[in-house]
Amino acid sequence: MPDFPDIPRHIAVIMDGNGRWAKERGLPRREGHRAGAESVREVADTCIELGVKYLTLYAFSSENWNRPEAEVKALMALLDRFLVEKSKDLKKQNIRLQAIGQLDRLPVKTRALLDKIMAQTADHTAMTLVLALSYGGREEIISAARSLAAEAVAGTISPDQIDCTMFASHLQTTGIPDPDLLIRTSGEMRVSNFLLWQISYAEIVIVKKFWPDFRKNDLIEAVREYQLRHRRFGAL
Ligand code: FPP
Repeated sequence: MPDFPDIPRHIAVIMDGNGRWAKERGLPRREGHRAGAESVREVADTCIELGVKYLTLYAFSSENWNRPEAEVKALMALLDRFLVEKSKDLKKQNIRLQAIGQLDRLPVKTRALLDKIMAQTADHTAMTLVLALSYGGREEIISAARSLAAEAVAGTISPDQIDCTMFASHLQTTGIPDPDLLIRTSGEMRVSNFLLWQISYAEIVIVKKFWPDFRKNDLIEAVREYQLRHRRFGAL
């Protein structure tokens, strides 16, 4: 492993291009997702090796519910399989699993698996793997705004007390530092409703490869690019 002085504490990834990867090979889309799940394993392992403390993966967006039922089912089945197979490694690798998104929309079985593994890994400390599932950044912000409004109406806070820190503490990512590096695969230059609040100062690295082709060395290259950027947070 190369010597890395400035490892991003938190990497967030928009895993895009599974469908196109499959199409290029004349395969059904679900084969692209299956290959994409392999990239998830490799990228998570590489993050552990590098010493990344948080990895957030956009595994299923709020908008993904609009895909054909068969594809949604295939994605949920893959996720279940990943959770079952990965749960042993999570223990061995000391990884804590968390999930953000509208989790009550997930199938009961998936939700139960998630709850079980999150509870089992809650005190793990090597890295936190955050799965964004049924996730939308706007929905998350609205939900935070609603709970702050409810507190204001109840009189437990006053509106002028609301600042960035208080707002962030009402997001699902409370306790998780903002991403330092946001990676998107398949060359698209969009944020697609992912972590809208949290990526304010993230370095964005767009990679041309489709997600199933994004492996260990691609992650290392993205981290190198991050390290080359001069990060000033708007200051001089
Ligand atoms: C984007 O490809 C990817 C997704 C919608 C879901 C990501 C899911 C996985 C990588 C597999 C399972 C996840 C885990 C955590 C095991 P796309 O279908 O939008 O591709 P396209 O834009 O080429 O059609």
